[in-house]
Amino acid sequence: MSGTITFTMIKPDAVADGHVGAILGKIAEAGFKIKALKLTQLTLADAQKFYEVHAERPFYGELVDFMSSGPIVAAVLEKDNAVDGFRTLIGATNPAEAAEGTIRKMFARSIGENAVHGSDSAENALIEAQFHFSGREIF
Ligand code: RTP
Ligand code: MG
Repeated sequence: MSGTITFTMIKPDAVADGHVGAILGKIAEAGFKIKALKLTQLTLADAQKFYEVHAERPFYGELVDFMSSGPIVAAVLEKDNAVDGFRTLIGATNPAEAAEGTIRKMFARSIGENAVHGSDSAENALIEAQFHFSGREIF
């Protein structure tokens, strides 16, 4: 059965803290199929481009410095209602406000270093997937 896609990154904090396996386990347990997956690192320019929509926000500089500070895991995931379902699985942006059992509640350090990214729309999921992966890398 084919669903819709979302795009995720396991952020540098969660990679550095050794949570990659546990987070991928939660994602698989929740019924997401992995369509693409890699360990990589964003350059500062990559991070600035990826988070362009937040360029005017006060946390932009901190965000792009952090997102390019170390390796990340990028992935494309498929499930029915993938975008909303994944955002429910990861929880609120601020882990202090995230529901029990969510990935951010379990693994995030702070609002800025919050373990995972999840696309906010189907349209952005496709743009983000194509930003990180070539056609040959998505299955
Ligand atoms: P994401 O895009 O990473 O999935 O996170 P989100 O939708 O829950 O939150 P968004 O508003 O898109 O913000 C993007 C990322 O910016 C950092 N942030 N820091 N210090 C702050 O007040 C603050 N607010 C946002 C977080 O890393 C957030 O995930
Ligand atoms: Mg967002």
